[in-house]
Amino acid sequence: WHQQFLPSQLRLDDKLRTQKVEARLADLVLSGDVLRRVGDVFEQELERGLQEKPSSLQMENTYVPELPDGTEEGVFLALDLGGTNFRVLLLELKAGQLVRQNVKQYHISNALRLGTGDELFNYLADCVQDFLQQLGMEDQEFSLGFTFSFPMKQHSISSGELITWTKSFKCSGLEGVDVAALLERCLRARRLRVTVRVLLNDTTGTLVAGAHMHRSVGIAVILGTGSNGCYMERASRVRHWEAAHESVRDVCVDVEWGAFGDNGCLDFLKSEFDREVDAGSLLATSFTFEKYIGGKYLGSLLTSALSALARDGLFPAEPTPDALQTAHLSLFEEENCAGEVTRTVAALREVCPGASITAQDALVAQHVAHVISNRAAQLVSVCISTLLRRMERPHVGVAVDGSVFKHHPRIASLMKKYIALLAPQNSFELLGAEDGSGKGSALTAAIAARLAAQYKR
Ligand code: GLC
Repeated sequence: WHQQFLPSQLRLDDKLRTQKVEARLADLVLSGDVLRRVGDVFEQELERGLQEKPSSLQMENTYVPELPDGTEEGVFLALDLGGTNFRVLLLELKAGQLVRQNVKQYHISNALRLGTGDELFNYLADCVQDFLQQLGMEDQEFSLGFTFSFPMKQHSISSGELITWTKSFKCSGLEGVDVAALLERCLRARRLRVTVRVLLNDTTGTLVAGAHMHRSVGIAVILGTGSNGCYMERASRVRHWEAAHESVRDVCVDVEWGAFGDNGCLDFLKSEFDREVDAGSLLATSFTFEKYIGGKYLGSLLTSALSALARDGLFPAEPTPDALQTAHLSLFEEENCAGEVTRTVAALREVCPGASITAQDALVAQHVAHVISNRAAQLVSVCISTLLRRMERPHVGVAVDGSVFKHHPRIASLMKKYIALLAPQNSFELLGAEDGSGKGSALTAAIAARLAAQYKR
């Protein structure tokens, strides 16, 4: 069992160099026991979060009590904010099927991501206005689903306050502000007749969109710029409720596992490379678990480890800061799987200008990429396997979306292997679920409309 967690071995012509490289990377290699310990801590933190005791896991009630049943109808606007692009969508559902979709992407500049909250939200409203003008629908009334991929304290399915920024956003004045209400105010100021019906996280959207495709889906995971998961929890286990909920059996809980360990409970995992990546990040000391897994950080981890090897004379040069991206990690892994080095050598020559890079150096870089990928896959698998065990269902579909999951050549197969090792009693399948933020948001708005009608009756 233990052997199966080890990354594949490095095989250089020079045995001593191989040993030295492996020793330098040892803190990035996690044993089965360490992973079990991470799982135990995760479960404790999860319980504490649900009971509203101090915990690094937010365990946020999303107020989504139902998954789609195939009757969803209507025309909805959906907004997706979380990365460097902001998307506005118009979606039409008929009998649960998507029959129309218009999408437009708007770039969010660095200045906007790091400016004031008011400027950002006024810009979002300008984008919605531009989108509706182009469709000639500026005067129509719409219900809107707002996918806001950041941690929130939700008060209902349509309201919630930003807790803290993550990833590449750091706007002033928005923490503690109800982002749905602010968005609606900005839309109304432009005389748009748009009501924010649901406010949701991207994991929630992915869960709803995933469940729409496969009824077995009960967990959703984002493995992209950031990483997070949500799952269907028994309502009786959730403390944080702000309205009567006697009839509700299950509810979707947003774990916010990016922040796992921010209270120090995972310090035993932290390597010198993690400290360096955290110190150089936009939001240091927060969301440190995400920095082991998220695509925003994997390239920086690669840089940090290769630089350490270079300082020890085990790699020709320190890569230029910020030159290595997660796409490089994927490329190195792809060539590693195929037993090739040509493109790795070319990429290394670009990021280490002036250094002479050999095929053996490329093998070192590929090994580092593999060790980092293996750890990321293991850590996200620890979270998923803990949720699977908790759900006590015969079979659970796990809907997964995000750029790392889509583009990394072997993350999905590593995750399958590790989840099976960590939750051997549970039957599961990983299902790629695209565009939870768009489709999931419209479906959730339709579910909310259905429930509102039911409660009125
Ligand atoms: C960050 C956000 C979280 C989101 C995840 C994936 O962790 O805090 O809300 O789900 O990124 O986008």
